[in-house]
Amino acid sequence: MCLGVAAAVHASDGYPIYGAHDLPGFLTLPDALGIWVALVGDELVGHVALRASAEPRTIVESAGRFLDLPLDALCVVTRLLVAPGARRLGVGVLLLDEAVGRARRLGLVPVLGVDEGSGAVAFYERCGWRRVEPVAVRVPSGEEIVQVVYVAPD
Ligand SMILES: CC(C)(COP(=O)(O)OP(=O)(O)OC[C@H]1O[C@@H](n2cnc3c(N)ncnc32)[C@H](O)[C@@H]1OP(=O)(O)O)[C@@H](O)C(=O)NCCC(=O)NCCS
Repeated sequence: MCLGVAAAVHASDGYPIYGAHDLPGFLTLPDALGIWVALVGDELVGHVALRASAEPRTIVESAGRFLDLPLDALCVVTRLLVAPGARRLGVGVLLLDEAVGRARRLGLVPVLGVDEGSGAVAFYERCGWRRVEPVAVRVPSGEEIVQVVYVAPD
């Protein structure tokens, strides 16, 4: 069911920029600290994950410098996606709150990278996340994309 939502999000938003050819792989995170889905009735409409690993490296290093924290004090919010038909209903905020709550309980500071120019930038800023800087991120294909680093509000 997640795959259907991920495919619809890719078709409407172009997210993810990389990994779309292998959405099962994109959504499979063996190192996840948590994965949450949102349901409306019995329909899956959203997904988010929290990762402990210091990946993408350049995102986490930038956030660590900004916060003056070691990399193992950070974790990464990732794979946040809401079905196009369920947008602007607060689903994204609910999912983000779950992931941030888990991070806080683990004593970790959540950070993330977002594609510049996507609607997600306004979403994270509305949620109080702090913009750090754009950085280059090398994706599995070897290409580099630019993402903006954000850190969670205090
Ligand atoms: C970003 C995303 C997760 C937001 O999900 P959502 O459920 O629509 O978000 P919410 O309803 O919780 O939005 C909360 C607030 O964020 C802001 N917001 C959300 N999406 C926005 C957009 N596209 N443009 C401007 N502001 C936006 C609004 O202030 C909104 O409140 P409002 O609807 O009362 O004005 C969703 O648009 C999405 O899946 N995008 C494609 C995938 C993606 O880019 N994921 C992020 C990867 S880093």
